[in-house]
Amino acid sequence: MTIKILALSGSSRRGSYNQRVLDVSARGAFEAGADVKTIRLADFKLPLYDADEEAEHGSPDSAQALQKLVAQHDALLIATPEYNGGYTALLKNAIDWISRPCPDGSPGTALFAAKIAALVSASPGQLGGLRSQTGMRTVLEKLGVLVIPGSFALSAAHEAFTENGGMKDANAERLLLAVGERLARAASRLK
Ligand SMILES: Cc1cc2nc3c(=O)[nH]c(=O)nc-3n(C[C@H](O)[C@H](O)[C@H](O)COP(=O)(O)O)c2cc1C
Repeated sequence: MTIKILALSGSSRRGSYNQRVLDVSARGAFEAGADVKTIRLADFKLPLYDADEEAEHGSPDSAQALQKLVAQHDALLIATPEYNGGYTALLKNAIDWISRPCPDGSPGTALFAAKIAALVSASPGQLGGLRSQTGMRTVLEKLGVLVIPGSFALSAAHEAFTENGGMKDANAERLLLAVGERLARAASRLK
């Protein structure tokens, strides 16, 4: 059975390095036989989570759409940019909304509990967003997601790409492809 992977990034920036590394890893998963759907979180207009707003107006349609997408996929491939040593608000806010009750009353947290995930990141800095991965791993594991050990953090990301968007370092590209491939294979074994 074909594994379905939902790929998303915590950056909405045009030309985002994290989007680029996500795309390479997604290609690795696709080449390993997975069906990969890449979404842009910025396309889901989510307000900052506010419990009073939720109590009065319920969950926004965009949060429900994300819940549906997570439910429809076996695995998550996440690119997690680093802001001040942690993950971005865009990514965490989306996870917080998804974790809230679904329209049928079932807990959103249950959507994560059976999932497997892989992380990648990119940063102009020397650690390539590794600290963000550590924080995101903690969040996902708290939700019951099995985060696979193999990940990749691309350092000096501002120098890593050619003008047409390709990767200059074939080894870095190979490692990113391998993250997607490993996720597809691990998800397949679990299914
Ligand atoms: C508010 C802010 C804080 C940042 N803090 C860090 C940081 O702690 N570590 C790091 O490696 N890069 C940091 N950066 C640089 C980001 O890694 C860089 O902007 C990167 O390009 C963001 O990912 P993107 O290209 O996918 O948008 C920060 C950027 C911003 C805007």
